[in-house]
Amino acid sequence: MQHQIKIAPSLLSADFGNLQKDIKLCEEGGADILHLDIMDGHFVPNITFGPIMLKYIRKYSQMPVSTHLMIAKPDEYIPQFAELGSEMISFHAEAVPHIHRSLSFIRSFGKKAGIALNPVTPIEYAFEAAEYCDFILLMTVNPGFGGQKFIPNYFARVEKLKNFLIKNGLEHIEIEVDGGVKIENCKSVSDAGANILVSGSGIFSGDIVQNLIAMRKALE
Ligand code: DX5
Ligand code: ZN
Repeated sequence: MQHQIKIAPSLLSADFGNLQKDIKLCEEGGADILHLDIMDGHFVPNITFGPIMLKYIRKYSQMPVSTHLMIAKPDEYIPQFAELGSEMISFHAEAVPHIHRSLSFIRSFGKKAGIALNPVTPIEYAFEAAEYCDFILLMTVNPGFGGQKFIPNYFARVEKLKNFLIKNGLEHIEIEVDGGVKIENCKSVSDAGANILVSGSGIFSGDIVQNLIAMRKALE
């Protein structure tokens, strides 16, 4: 079932020793999208995993995947993630010299293209890029780690983007919000205009299925 507001558990906070089990629990709890955080130790001060992870995930799960590239040279890895079946791929505006080219490159594989912005990167980047995007990812923490606190007063930025999209007839473009999204604040994030909510520690701390059910209920 496709929900209007999509919950995207970030596997960064999953138990890597029991990934298959955690992903099954995400499916059971009604999650919509798996969010994969790709970090290279250059663009962000942390290293996670590469395309091979998606290759193995695809052996037991067909959940839609949103790949969040927090890496210095995203263009070099877009083909592999696309070919392994990542439905959505985003890269950071701060990481590429030619945003339009990278967005078009993702779309050339028939995948949804998204630009990701760090918390204080001017929102105008998203305005300029919007018509070439299928979604826009707004970071609500500095990228690199799970379990950080949502930067307060961020709702205004999400609202600003949503209003821009509505005013320009671009409301089909999805807004993915990433960082510090929990059961307690998810409704405010979606009310501000986001329709894809990434949550790592908010889902994987404790009972995954119960957390997903509670988040879905909080969104009603
Ligand atoms: C941070 C990542 C996020 C992170 C979210 O750099 O992009 O996706 O895993 O984790 P929480 O929800 O714990 O902030
Ligand atoms: Zn992410």
